[in-house]
Amino acid sequence: MIGFNKPYLTGDEVKYIQQAAASGKISGNGDFTKRCQHFFEQKYGFRKCLLTTSCTDALEMAAILCDIGPGDEVIVPSYTFVSSALAFVRNGARIIFADSCSDNPNIDADRLETLITPRTKAIVPVHYAGIACDMQRIMDIADRHGLMVVEDAAQAIDSFFNGQPLGSIGHLACFSFHETKNIISGEGGMLCINDDRLIRRAEIIWEKGTNRAEFFRGEVNKYGWVDTGSSFLPSEVTAAFLWAQIENMDRIQAKRKELWCKYYVNLKPLEDKGLLYLPDIPEYATNNAHMFYLVCRNLDERTRLIQHLKANGIQAVFHYLALHKSDFYRAKHDGRDLPSCDRFADCLVRLPMFYELDVHQVDQICDQILAFFN
Ligand SMILES: Cc1ncc(COP(=O)(O)O)c(C=O)c1O
Repeated sequence: MIGFNKPYLTGDEVKYIQQAAASGKISGNGDFTKRCQHFFEQKYGFRKCLLTTSCTDALEMAAILCDIGPGDEVIVPSYTFVSSALAFVRNGARIIFADSCSDNPNIDADRLETLITPRTKAIVPVHYAGIACDMQRIMDIADRHGLMVVEDAAQAIDSFFNGQPLGSIGHLACFSFHETKNIISGEGGMLCINDDRLIRRAEIIWEKGTNRAEFFRGEVNKYGWVDTGSSFLPSEVTAAFLWAQIENMDRIQAKRKELWCKYYVNLKPLEDKGLLYLPDIPEYATNNAHMFYLVCRNLDERTRLIQHLKANGIQAVFHYLALHKSDFYRAKHDGRDLPSCDRFADCLVRLPMFYELDVHQVDQICDQILAFFN
């Protein structure tokens, strides 16, 4: 069986975890945490990075930093993971679900402005498959209306919009290092704070509402409870694991891109015949090869394709269910149809993509897809 995902270990994870343990400092915000945060700040120009225990936690921190409260509206695409919306709902927000573009699953920036009301407080663009949303349009709209932008960059490490790293553009951005992502720490995430005005408060929220970070830097002579927050920071064990992945990121990215291109070239003839759709990468976006997906013409065809691949030892999977139709939110949704979201929920299939997959296996998978459509 070729599985959909296999977490890749670089070989240095245990060595660094042992180092963390031997240092006698295995709680959060130690040397490995600082090393990881510094790396991302230097490489991508994020103003301030804070590791978190998940991207969900980073999104929850973002909701607090945006001062989301009851009655506020937050615009989120319906075609996304639950956490993109849930983090804001927990603070009392009403979610206004946006549709996807017709040719890719990202939020449709053309129709964004029609969703804004006097109660709107934030927009959450999700860079699906690591491919950039139209950040220029989104930031222009947000500026005009005085809104916060929280990039859900869970899948978007090492990817760019017109040369700008994803995660560096919104006021805040959230990454995931869950085992399904390009670089991983089991569970794990990161909040990037690009708006200087939010940095001090972010550190406090991160450390249970205390000004502990300032105390350890020697900026205050005692620390205490100064704000809301939670224990959002991961232990050094998680950060040590992540450091081993960071050191190997270029190699991981190069291999994933090679696999992605192989899929694309092999399957292009099917798209040319109008039998399926391949990912559409806008001119302004790069591809970080987080995911290889294709879009079938209808739900029945997708179901049969997944079954065909399974019968031939290949695990392909669909992705999000529309959040505006979820059990939790259906009755609270304003009733608008979101046809592009529905189409991706019904027709999108993700193919195996992980570091240890090899190009011959990609050929084998593509041969089965070609056999299905021919
Ligand atoms: C778009 C998006 N946002 C948020 C998350 C949540 O990430 P985590 O599992 O790190 O909390 C995911 C998870 O896959 C995701 O795909």
